[in-house]
Amino acid sequence: MRESHIITIAGAGSGRVPALVGTLVQYKERFPLKKIIFYDIDEERMGKMEAYDRLVLKCYYPECEVVFTTDEDEAYRETDFVFCQMRVGKTRMRSYDEKLPLKYGLVGQETCGPGGFAYGMRSLGAMKKMVEKVRSYSKDTWILNYTNPAAIVALGLDQMFPDDKRILNLCDQPFSMMKSFAKILGVPQESLRARYFGLNHFGWFTELKDTEGKDHFEELRTYLRDHDFKPFNAEQRSKSWLDTYMRVNQYMKYFDEYIPTTYMQYYMFPQEIAAESDPNYTRADEARDSREKQVFDACALAEGRENMDGIEMLTNSVFGNLMVEVAESIAYGLNREFIVLVRNEEIIPNFEKNAIIEVAGTIGKDGAKGYPYGEIPLFYKGLMEGQYAYEQLTVDAFREKNYEKALMALTVNRTVVDPGKAKAVLDDLMEVNREYWYLQ
Ligand code: G6P
Ligand code: MN
Repeated sequence: MRESHIITIAGAGSGRVPALVGTLVQYKERFPLKKIIFYDIDEERMGKMEAYDRLVLKCYYPECEVVFTTDEDEAYRETDFVFCQMRVGKTRMRSYDEKLPLKYGLVGQETCGPGGFAYGMRSLGAMKKMVEKVRSYSKDTWILNYTNPAAIVALGLDQMFPDDKRILNLCDQPFSMMKSFAKILGVPQESLRARYFGLNHFGWFTELKDTEGKDHFEELRTYLRDHDFKPFNAEQRSKSWLDTYMRVNQYMKYFDEYIPTTYMQYYMFPQEIAAESDPNYTRADEARDSREKQVFDACALAEGRENMDGIEMLTNSVFGNLMVEVAESIAYGLNREFIVLVRNEEIIPNFEKNAIIEVAGTIGKDGAKGYPYGEIPLFYKGLMEGQYAYEQLTVDAFREKNYEKALMALTVNRTVVDPGKAKAVLDDLMEVNREYWYLQ
């Protein structure tokens, strides 16, 4: 049997955690655990899922010790892996991130544009503290980070902790898209191998083959030219996500050489998206009223119960599977293939060496390694240079508390461009984020 581990779930009040617990149960042979520490600073929110998390583990994982805590030291004192998905400021702040930009006709999104900027500033502060705390106890603990915006968090942590090789930033969107490709092509997802390049939430699939070497890319591109692109789990998705997938079709009407990540829509069609958004009801509201409500309702059924009869076991989230498969690949040195976030160095030789890029690669005992990609064409390079400048200026604004750099960051972002609007939205965001960050 494989050696077993201790994990800490940081941000255990996240609505994604019950499905992660289900995945941990499913993977108990592959990634056995002796202890799970659930940690959140919001006891009440974590408490809404505690009875459920405990019941699932008691029924299906009795050998695993379970701890719930709001004490940071208890969370990090002794642990092998931190699975981190904190959302600083929770849905309340996500809602500002999405709504304030819309006042100026700008995209309102949690990870892209001004909203992503504001969220990035909040996340950087909390993530820096977390890494320092974890490292005060151990150099060896792996930090698997899902905290968004991953692009900003990954770049900031790389520059604040340049020698730390055990922080890995993860995004499940390429993974979700590959699942959707597999469904369209009618092949098992495990058999598909992609070539991909870009920045996080800003990249392109450029090749898709199966393990036998058969090329599926042409077939997929042809399909996307005249069929709606749908996520593999379309029946569980809200309208805004279905629209998001369809904008891949829209992009490909102009440029069909590569397949973009769904997030490219915000940079290609910002005005159209802002115009279609409802400033009184954004994705934060939709997520709270749909996914979060379903999870909380399902978890409420577990209160006072001794067994799972009639209680659904939540599993199969893309996020949960990705986290556990990455941890497994590290723990047992499997070098499995993933789309990873790594410092560029020479992977794309004609792009910024210090950028954190998203490419196909492997994950094993030494962390993530990107496969060498080669030079990228000018169009993509140009788009990525601008986006990287936005990311780097955001990190600089955070580290230097520098207002001017923040203004530059927003102005260079394709969803903003106009410095007058950049300033107006920056001032609004700064006002509501006072308890998290402030710039001079
Ligand atoms: C995808 C992205 C994540 C993001 C999530 C938002 O999975 O890769 O970075 O957090 O979508 O989902 P939501 O349903 O909360 O809008
Ligand atoms: Mn993501």
